[in-house]
Amino acid sequence: MATDKIRVLIVDDIAETRENVRKLLQFESDVDVTGTARSGKEGIQLALELDPDVVLMDINMPDIDGISATEAIRQKSPHIQVVILSVQGDQNYMRRAMLAGARDFLTKPPMGDELISAIRRAGEMSHAERAKGAQQRMVATTASGVPISMSSFAPLSKGKIVVVYSPKGGTGCTTIAVNLAIALNNEDTRTVLVDANLQFGDVAVFVNEQGKNTILEIAPRVDDLEPDVVEEILIKHEASGLRILAAPQRPEMAEKISPDQFTKVLEFLQRMYSYVVVDTSSILTDVVLSTIDISDVMVLVTTQEIPSIKNARLCLDLLQTMGINKERIVFAMNRYDKRIAITPERVSENLKHEVSTTIPLDEKVVITSVNRGVPFMLDNKSQPVGRGIFSLAETVRARLALLESENEASVRR
Ligand SMILES: Nc1ncnc2c1ncn2[C@@H]1O[C@H](COP(=O)(O)OP(=O)(O)OP(=O)(O)O)[C@@H](O)[C@H]1O
Ligand SMILES: [Mg+2]
Repeated sequence: MATDKIRVLIVDDIAETRENVRKLLQFESDVDVTGTARSGKEGIQLALELDPDVVLMDINMPDIDGISATEAIRQKSPHIQVVILSVQGDQNYMRRAMLAGARDFLTKPPMGDELISAIRRAGEMSHAERAKGAQQRMVATTASGVPISMSSFAPLSKGKIVVVYSPKGGTGCTTIAVNLAIALNNEDTRTVLVDANLQFGDVAVFVNEQGKNTILEIAPRVDDLEPDVVEEILIKHEASGLRILAAPQRPEMAEKISPDQFTKVLEFLQRMYSYVVVDTSSILTDVVLSTIDISDVMVLVTTQEIPSIKNARLCLDLLQTMGINKERIVFAMNRYDKRIAITPERVSENLKHEVSTTIPLDEKVVITSVNRGVPFMLDNKSQPVGRGIFSLAETVRARLALLESENEASVRR
């Protein structure tokens, strides 16, 4: 890519909205509005012709609506990232839009800085996807002598293990793991959520699926598994489409599962799913340590409280001793309240590790969702907490793409 500017296509049937968005972006030196379209149909056409990095998409439009247009664009060009701009009250569309492959949602009219940071996140993702695609095509061409399409190449790649860990209990590790898994799950990237808190795991409770199959049904026969058997045993969370591997129902059962069995289960799931998201206990059991060890990316959760930050520091030291590459760690601040003086910037500076995402404090939305057993990414994803999770999902995806491209580059060297 020549300058790595983020090339943006605006799709909206109202001229004034198109103009307002264009004005908001005109002074951003890294953003280039390459085109505007007045309908979903025109949007699809221009996306094909102009090949932008990011499409800003309205939902309600004549001819083809924004959701179908998103789907069409993402099917043809999976590297193009779509940011939906919707009026308030369009929340019912959110899930459909997400399934169609949209990356982010903003409410109209968008605030300038909110819009720009969403575009930058999406742009970064698009650039990483393009780089990955180019490399995959190279590898595919050299392997067989003839170019093969990305879609026939994709199933060969292993899924990614994303472990969510907090060295301080009660900071929201499970809340984040459950909602992140829902944000990552779509038709192209099927996701399974695994509970590694074997004694007191509560993933199943968070999605109101307690009392069903657990890892005890899989772990003892891990050397002899078939994908269709595993698919049968996993809990199917109907509302989200997510698959779940729950912890044993009683704490004393935990010791029946060895770290070796547990990691083998994760490695098996990696062959079936694009993402294996793992929730953990704050206690570093052997199971949690070996999960961290084989994970591709770790989401390290802190809050703005000193004990939590102190533990995050100890944990970062430990991870360094374990030889875990810093880039594998996505540092996230949960329960973020901007009125508190301990800012993400100060924590980043102090711990010498950037806080990449903040998830705001919202007791009403989060506690209600936990008590109802309905993750907020299902019915409240346009709220700030939901957007925090989307942004975390984007960071995780971009980080994985980056690590993969670095990995492939080092293999070729
Ligand atoms: N962003 C948030 N805003 C408000 N409340 C939150 C937020 N995130 C989590 N909580 C609340 O904090 C509590 C603890 O969350 P959760 O169970 O996810 O933490 P945990 O780190 O997994 O805890 P444990 O150590 O018990 O496994 C829950 O009551 C949850 O509703
Ligand atoms: Mg938990």
